[in-house]
Amino acid sequence: MIEVIDLKRNFKSGDTTVHAVNGISFSVPDGQFASIVGQSGSGKSTLLTLLGALDKPTSGSIVVDGQDVTKMHDHKLIGYRGRKIGFVFQNYNLVPNLTALENVMLPMEFAHMPRARRKARAAELLEQVGLSADQQDRKPGKLSGGQQQRVAIARALANKPKLILADEPTGNLDSKTGKMIFDLLHDLAKTENTTIITVTHDLSISGKTDVTFTLHDGALVKT
Ligand SMILES: Nc1ncnc2c1ncn2[C@@H]1O[C@H](COP(=O)(O)OP(=O)(O)OP(=O)(O)O)[C@@H](O)[C@H]1O
Ligand SMILES: [Mg+2]
Repeated sequence: MIEVIDLKRNFKSGDTTVHAVNGISFSVPDGQFASIVGQSGSGKSTLLTLLGALDKPTSGSIVVDGQDVTKMHDHKLIGYRGRKIGFVFQNYNLVPNLTALENVMLPMEFAHMPRARRKARAAELLEQVGLSADQQDRKPGKLSGGQQQRVAIARALANKPKLILADEPTGNLDSKTGKMIFDLLHDLAKTENTTIITVTHDLSISGKTDVTFTLHDGALVKT
C-alpha cells in the first residue's frame, strides 16, 4: 500500500515559486494499476519522481508499507530504490554499449546476485517479455523502440520490485506497440501482484487501469 499525504513540491526560480505538486493525497493498494493523467506542466513527472524517492518533497509524506520514505536517509534510499522500485521511462534509458541481456543483469549486479543466477534470470525475464535469444544478445541500437521498452520492463522487474513507476512508457511507440506494452504491464501487475503507477497521455490506456488520477496545476481533480 502506498499512501500519499498532502504532498507538496515547490520550485523556486528568482522571485517566483512554482507549486509543481500542490497538496496531493491518495492511496494505491498493493497490486493495483494506477494511471496519472493531466496537461503538460500539471506536475505528473514531478509527482512520479517524488514517489520514486528520486527527489524530496517540500512537505508531506509518502508512506510505503508503513514506512515514511520522505524521512529515510539518503544512504538507505539507494538500497530502498534498488530493491523495491522498478523504473520505466519514455526514452527507455538503456545502457547503449551493453546487450539487452547485460542491461537486465545490471540491477541484479547492484543487488549482489551471483553472476550465473543473474544471467539465467535476465534471460528468463527477456523471454517473458517476448525477446528471442538472438535479440537478447543485441545492443539497444539494434532493437526497435517496442523491443527496447520490453528490455526496460524486464530490467525494471529484475529485482522483483513491489512498485513499478513508469513515465509515458508508450510515449515513443506507435499505438499498436503501445497497447502491447500496456498489456504486458497489466499482466505483470496481476500475476506478480506488483503495484504499477504510470503517467500517460493516452486515454485508451488510462481508461483501462484500476484507477486514474487527474492532475491540474499540481492538484488532483475531483472525479
Ligand atoms: N527542476 C525543476 N525546476 C523548476 N521547475 C520545475 C522543475 N521540474 C518541474 N518544474 C515545473 O513544475 C511544473 C510541473 O512539471 P512536470 O514536469 O511535473 O509536468 P508534467 O505534467 O510531467 O508535464 P509533461 O506532460 O510535459 O511531461 C512545470 O511548471 C515545470 O516547469
Ligand atoms: Mg512529464
